[in-house]
Amino acid sequence: MNRDISKRNAAEEAVKYVKNGMVVGLGTGSTAKIAVDLIASKLNEDFQIVGMPTSIQTKLQAKQLGIELIEIDEAETIDLAIDGADEVSPNMSLIKGLGGALLREKKVEKKAKELIIIVDEGKLVQKLGRGELPVEVSPNSYEVTGSKIEELGCKASLRIKEDGNPFVTDNQNYIYHCRFTDGIENPNLLDTNLQAIEGVKDTGLFLNMATKVIVGNDKGIQIMQ
Ligand code: A5P
Repeated sequence: MNRDISKRNAAEEAVKYVKNGMVVGLGTGSTAKIAVDLIASKLNEDFQIVGMPTSIQTKLQAKQLGIELIEIDEAETIDLAIDGADEVSPNMSLIKGLGGALLREKKVEKKAKELIIIVDEGKLVQKLGRGELPVEVSPNSYEVTGSKIEELGCKASLRIKEDGNPFVTDNQNYIYHCRFTDGIENPNLLDTNLQAIEGVKDTGLFLNMATKVIVGNDKGIQIMQ
């Protein structure tokens, strides 16, 4: 599988759902970046959209491309959001956030009437937790928070930058990457338990949110919905 071609095929299909006048949530990561480029290339006098970016990175990209933007709190609901994912299970539950933008992504995407996820085939899993689950936490007492997260049955490692310092999110938080040896048995329960820990800001579990998943491959796409 050629990942770049697969991502592009998925992104090309997703932007077909972007209609004139829509408010569109703009995702973060390498696949969403392609979609943002493609959306910008559709714009002309008769076709305009307003974007709600899910990260500072995407905001900069969209601005440079001339997409009109609004902030998260400027609209209660948005028409559509398009974003990538790190893992997609058969019932369209997702792990997102390995790009470091999960909190804003979830806020924007919860407002969306339709959430289209674009991935290459390599992101499909039978059970979530094949890789790491990112969890965004407050920097205050983050070590205590990390120990409480581990009590839920995982190994939690603080995301560290190349310079040795903790990675800081757009919302000035830290990220734990959580590894569950046998995957995640019950994503809903885990999410509830994680959210109940003081210091946890949000988790990379995006459950019951995606309305469509476009899976790109070398030759084209498949749609899950
Ligand atoms: C960003 O924080 C993430 O949620 C991304 O959407 C996710 O990591 C997928 O990124 P890629 O499209 O780069 O794989």
